Amino acid sequence: MAFPSAPSALWIVSLLTALFAAAVHSNIVSDEDPLQPMTSDETVSVGGMVTLTCRVAETDNSSLQWSNTAQQTLYFGEKRALRDNRIQLHRSTPTELSINISDVQLSDEGEYTCSIFTMPVRTARATVTVLGVPGTPQISGFEEPVPEGKKVTLTCTSTGSKPPAKLRWYKGDVEVQGRPDVVESVPDDPTYNVSSELTLEVTANDDNTKISCVVDHDSVKHGEKRSEQSLRVLYAPEVAITPEERMAIEGQRFSLQCSGKGNPEPTSYFWEKAEGELPQLAKADGAFLSFSMLNKSDNGMYICHAANDIGKGRGSYTLQVQDTTAMSTSSGVDHAVIGGVVAVIVFILLCLLIVLGRYLIRHKGTYLTHEAKGSDDAPDADTAIINAEGGHSGAEEKKEYFI
Ligand SMILES: *[C@@H]1O[C@H](CO)[C@@H](O)[C@H](O)[C@H]1NC(C)=O
Ligand SMILES: *[C@@H]1O[C@H](CO)[C@@H](O)[C@H](O)[C@H]1NC(C)=O
Ligand SMILES: *[C@@H]1O[C@H](CO)[C@@H](O)[C@H](O)[C@H]1NC(C)=O
Ligand SMILES: *[C@@H]1O[C@H](CO)[C@@H](O)[C@H](O)[C@H]1NC(C)=O
Repeated sequence: MAFPSAPSALWIVSLLTALFAAAVHSNIVSDEDPLQPMTSDETVSVGGMVTLTCRVAETDNSSLQWSNTAQQTLYFGEKRALRDNRIQLHRSTPTELSINISDVQLSDEGEYTCSIFTMPVRTARATVTVLGVPGTPQISGFEEPVPEGKKVTLTCTSTGSKPPAKLRWYKGDVEVQGRPDVVESVPDDPTYNVSSELTLEVTANDDNTKISCVVDHDSVKHGEKRSEQSLRVLYAPEVAITPEERMAIEGQRFSLQCSGKGNPEPTSYFWEKAEGELPQLAKADGAFLSFSMLNKSDNGMYICHAANDIGKGRGSYTLQVQDTTAMSTSSGVDHAVIGGVVAVIVFILLCLLIVLGRYLIRHKGTYLTHEAKGSDDAPDADTAIINAEGGHSGAEEKKEYFI
């Protein structure tokens, strides 16, 4: 840096004066001097509003004044001195002078001075920092769908930030690392153009994935300024085969659907059987393979090939035809179980009937034994009945109890 062209003695004198002024009017001195005005530094974004406040602890009713970076007086007490509608009086009291500057521009940045016209004049400075608001980022570098496995380089650019903004990349919701930001200063302007590159090797899964570029800067809320780019990836079909019917039963119809997920959509399908020819009764029609009547001989692995401009994919399905007799056997088992249960219930009912019958007969038998002498020595009622049966003619009466 070159020294000013003025004689060096003069330059030193002005430097000392400046240092002296700074020492006399710094905030440290103000602690002891109640008449020393106090201010604070402010930061504001372009287009925003800033309030400059100047206060004194005590007053001798001397006037306060604000002047701008070019030492032009803005307000002297409550009197406006500069014709600029962006600058308005906020508050004027004997101990405070506050002004508002709205629609702040980058050119408003600098040192503002508050003075109080005591003897001697006391001053305080306030530095206003103006933030350049970054523009909405723009993503470039993606024009058309890319084949899987290829690399894509996206560039994100944001203009007009001061200090330089930080750019962040996201793939879906996950932050991904791009190359370090490239910062360019804009000629005749205190702002910067910032750009960042992101290189991705795309996979089929990246198709329709959103890549976002977000600007981080003190003048904007995180995520407020962003832009998105959807990736389109070209990839060979991924094949899946699904049966249309729930079960493959011998003698019944059956069909398989082949779905190929690819970009672009598959243009052709081809069916084959892993071992040997497709069966006579199997009909391949595009994505479908239908069997008009299943036969055990159809068992085996079927393969579907789907193709698009990018490549081919294949999937397989193993057909296992179910026996109709196996089906009837299984339902036969069901019938056997039901039959068994019914038989058990019938058996229990019969037993109950017999027990009930015998109970009733025992009473009748006891009655009979009195008539039929000679069965007194019988050990129980049943024997008594049998004995009575043997030696008595009342058999007809007994019979009705056995029906
Ligand atoms: C300042 O002015 C007010 C009235 O405007 C007066 O009451 C007060 O005494 C004055 N203070 C000094 C220090 O002159
Ligand atoms: C000045 O700004 C303050 C906020 O800092 C606001 O409350 C006030 O209304 C503004 N005054 C004018 C005249 O714009
Ligand atoms: C900054 O961005 C603006 C707008 O895109 C452009 O016109 C200008 O040339 C860029 N400046 C630099 C130094 O890259
Ligand atoms: C299955 O095919 C064999 C010979 O191909 C044939 O003899 C048989 O009758 C077929 N069965 C049915 C259920 O169609």
